[in-house]
Amino acid sequence: MLTVNNLAKIYGSSCSHCLELTGPAHKSNVCPRCGSVVACANISFQVDKGEIFGLVGESGSGKSTLVRCLYFDEEATGGEARLAPYQDGRVNMLAVSAQQKRFIRNHLMGMVYQYPHLGLKMYFSCGGNIAEKLLDAGFRHVGRMRERAAELLQRTEVPPGRMDDLPATFSGGMQQRVQIAKALANSPPLLLLDEVTTGLDVSVQARVLDLIRSLQQEMQLAVVVVSHDLGVIRLLSGRTAVMKNGQMVEVGLTDQILEDPQQPYTQLLVSSQL
Ligand SMILES: Nc1ncnc2c1ncn2[C@@H]1O[C@H](COP(=O)(O)OP(=O)(O)OP(=O)(O)O)[C@@H](O)[C@H]1O
Ligand SMILES: [Mg+2]
Ligand SMILES: [Zn+2]
Repeated sequence: MLTVNNLAKIYGSSCSHCLELTGPAHKSNVCPRCGSVVACANISFQVDKGEIFGLVGESGSGKSTLVRCLYFDEEATGGEARLAPYQDGRVNMLAVSAQQKRFIRNHLMGMVYQYPHLGLKMYFSCGGNIAEKLLDAGFRHVGRMRERAAELLQRTEVPPGRMDDLPATFSGGMQQRVQIAKALANSPPLLLLDEVTTGLDVSVQARVLDLIRSLQQEMQLAVVVVSHDLGVIRLLSGRTAVMKNGQMVEVGLTDQILEDPQQPYTQLLVSSQL
């Protein structure tokens, strides 16, 4: 469904040494020559239809930057990403026009941000937030949009009676459910989740994770899940990549990564979270 090749994102002017002088081996993502931040480099992976792919790594390793580049919140500095339903996966979506990127984002992707205020307008009704995504996806009929919003809220276990309330008045767990409802509004084949449950109480977290699993199975979504919490990754993802200093240090079946990590960094990460 999604194929990423050599994606890179550099913040700063960059020089010809940025890539060779940063990364796990250099223990830093800052280029010593020019001071640019190599937030992502040499990132390659694939996610199949109906698969949850995990991205794990310490703070600053580049996880959010990666999904933000895929969602076009940030412009990647280099590399390719192909989405099977867009031009049969033949076109690098990182290099298309802004208008085409809007089309891809509105019709083929959903995103849930770590902080609800990044994905929701807090002083816009909950239904209005979902309608925003529906309008982007080409819905026009107001009655039909309300129906669809109610359907989505019910599916994400937000009482539909709260459709006209402001997300600002919701609990953290419920705000994340509204974000999930909004992300799914256009029935996207690809869903990007950035630390969806970080900051939620453990019991609330478990329910949101359950919800994500059942939605993913029901809709056969391809999902990229970002988390620094191995528990979340263990529960959700079939395959996982470990990131450090902007690069992937290990990728494989989640069970194998957790039970028998090959790279010293992964071993450290796993043992520190046991
Ligand atoms: N706009 C920006 N300008 C400069 N550097 C940035 C910018 N955004 C992110 N970075 C840097 O890019 C690197 C990767 O950041 P990113 O937010 O992707 O990490 P992360 O893995 O998501 O971390 P966390 O677990 O804390 O969310 C960090 O060194 C960060 O400081
Ligand atoms: Mg992040
Ligand atoms: Zn440099």
